[in-house]
Amino acid sequence: MAVVLGIETSCDETGVGIVADGRLIGAALASSMDEHARYGGVVPEIAARAHLESLVPCVEAAFRQAGIGPAELDAVAVTSGPGLATALQTGLAAAKAYALAWDRPLYGVHHLAGHVAADTLEHGPLPRRSVALIVSGGHTSLLLLGDLARDPIVHLGDTRDDAAGEAFDKIARILGLAYPGGPAVDRAARDGDPRAIDFPRAMLGAGYDFSFSGLKSAVARHVERDGPGFSVPDVAASFQEAVVDVLTRKAVDACRAHGVDTLVIVGGVAANHRLRRVAAERCGAAGVTLRIPSPRLCTDNGAMIAAVGGLLVAAGAPPSPFDLAADPSAPL
Ligand code: KG4
Ligand code: ZN
Repeated sequence: MAVVLGIETSCDETGVGIVADGRLIGAALASSMDEHARYGGVVPEIAARAHLESLVPCVEAAFRQAGIGPAELDAVAVTSGPGLATALQTGLAAAKAYALAWDRPLYGVHHLAGHVAADTLEHGPLPRRSVALIVSGGHTSLLLLGDLARDPIVHLGDTRDDAAGEAFDKIARILGLAYPGGPAVDRAARDGDPRAIDFPRAMLGAGYDFSFSGLKSAVARHVERDGPGFSVPDVAASFQEAVVDVLTRKAVDACRAHGVDTLVIVGGVAANHRLRRVAAERCGAAGVTLRIPSPRLCTDNGAMIAAVGGLLVAAGAPPSPFDLAADPSAPL
C-alpha cells in the first residue's frame, strides 16, 4: 500500500494531509475565510496569496504530526480542479515542485472525488456502488459512484443556480446573521418552527437537479413583507427545512432508482444538524446505509486528496504528467 501527501487549494482552505494505507496520519489546515468575510464571499486573489503563504508551513506541520519525512512518501496528490483558477495553480505549482524535488510521482485529483474519498478515511472502503450528495458553498452535486480509482463518476444532478451552502450564506445575510451563514442559520433554526412558513421546494419530482434561487427570493419577500416583526428562528428553521427536504428526497430517490444501498453525504453543509437527522430518518426508512464523515473531513481538506492518491497508487493508475494544468471547471 502507499503513503501519499495530498494538497488542496481549490478555494479558501489550504489543506495538506498524509494518508498511509487508507489511514490519516498527519494533517494541517489554514483558512483565509476571515479575510473574505467583509466582502461576503471568497475573493480569488486573496485566497491565492494566502495559499502561497500557508502551503510550506502546512506541509511541514503535516509531516511533523505524521512523524515521517519525504523519504517515506510514495506519491504526491493535488487537486487539479474544479475550483478557483489562481487558487488551484498555487497548489499545483507546490505539488509539482515537491514531486520533482523528492522524485515522486504526481497525481492530479478531482476535487469532488476527494470529497467522497474523505469518508473512506473514517468508515473504510466504499461498497462497489454508492450515491454521493456533495453539499458545500461551491457545489450541490448528486453522483453515482463505482470504484473511485477505476470507474468514471456519473453525474446525476447539480444545482441550476446557487449551491446549497451559498443559499445558507445568502439567507444568513438577509436575516442579519454572521458569515459564514450555514452554522449561524443552523443555530438560529434550533429555536424555530420548521413548519411556520411553507417555503417552496423547487424541482421536486423533476430529476436530480436542484434550484435554490427561488427559495432565496421567497425568504427575502417574506422578510420584507413582515418588516421588523419577523421571527428569525422561524424563518431560519422553515428555510432550512425546505433545503433539507429537497436534498434528502432526491438523494434517497437516486439510491432507489439505481438500486444502491449506500448514501455518502459530504461538504460543509453535511455538518447541518437538521440535514443529518432527516437524512438518517429517510435512509432508515428506505433501507439505505448513511455515511457522513466528521465535520473536519466534510469540509475542504488535504487528507481527502491524499485518500484518492492512495487509491490511485493502489490501483496502479498512471501518474499525471508534469505539465498537468489547473482545470477550474473540470468535468467528472
Ligand atoms: O465544504 P466547505 O467548507 O467549503 C466549500 O464551499 O467547498 O463548505 C462551506 C459551506 C458554507 O456555505 C457554509 O455556510 C456551509 O458550508 N455550512 C453549513 C453548516 N456548516 C457549514 N450549512 C448549513 N449548516 C451548517 N451547520
Ligand atoms: Zn469542496
